[in-house]
Amino acid sequence: MKNLTHAVAIDGPSGAGKSTLARKVAADLKFVYVDTGAIYRSIGWYALQNGVSLECAEDIAQLLPSLKVEIQYGEDGLQHMLVNKRDVTKEIRLPEISVAASKVAAVPAVREFLLEMQRNLAREHNVVMDGRDIGTVVLPDASCKIFLTASAEVRAERRCKELEERGTPQEYGVVLEDMKRRDEQDRTRKIAPLKQAEDAILLDTSALNFESSFEALLQIIKERIGDET
Ligand code: DC
Repeated sequence: MKNLTHAVAIDGPSGAGKSTLARKVAADLKFVYVDTGAIYRSIGWYALQNGVSLECAEDIAQLLPSLKVEIQYGEDGLQHMLVNKRDVTKEIRLPEISVAASKVAAVPAVREFLLEMQRNLAREHNVVMDGRDIGTVVLPDASCKIFLTASAEVRAERRCKELEERGTPQEYGVVLEDMKRRDEQDRTRKIAPLKQAEDAILLDTSALNFESSFEALLQIIKERIGDET
C-alpha cells in the first residue's frame, strides 16, 4: 500500500549538521521536523536526575514505566521536550547529557519504548526525522533516506562553535575525543547501531558550508519526493 505521508530520514554521526540542516529543510518543505536525539537526551536527563547508574541497563529500563516523554512544538516552530510535563529543552543540550543519551540509547528497552512514538509521528505528519537508525529501523519505508556525515575534525570544529555560541565553550581536543568516543559507542552497539541504510544517499559535508550543504540536501530530497509533495 502506498504511504499516505512522506518521510525523509536523515541519519549520521553527531556534529554532522543533521539537526540544523534537517530543521531548515523541514521548514522549506513544510514538513514537521523530528529531532530523535532530543528524545534520547530526555531519557538520559531523567536517568541522571534519578541517580541511576548509566552502566546498568536494567536500572535504566526500570525507569521507563514512570516516564512520560512528550514532544511539543512551540509557536516558534521549535521542538520542545517535556519529561513528565517538565520542559527540559535547554537542559538536554549540556555535554553530560550527550554522554548519558548515548548510554541510554544502547539499552534495548529504551529503543523499544521509543519506537512507536517515532513511528506514530511519521504516520500522522509529513516528517523530516533525524537520528542514527531512522532509515534502518524506525522508518525503513521512508520516501527518502540520507546519510549525512563529515570528518570527525570538521564535526568537532562545528560542535565547538555551537557550544561557544550557547555560552558553554569547551576545548577542541576534548570535544574531538568525546565525539569519537560517542561515535564509536553508537556505531558498535548491538541494537540499532549507527550505519548507512543500503538505500540511503551519502552526503559528506566536510568541504561544504551550511548553505551549500542545505542546497545539496534539498536537491536530493526534491529529486526523490519533490514531484509528489
Ligand atoms: O543527535 P544527538 O547527538 O542529539 O543524539 C544523542 C544520542 O542519542 C547519540 O549519542 C545517539 C543517540 N541516538 C540514537 O541512538 N538514535 C537516534 N535515533 C537518535 C539519537
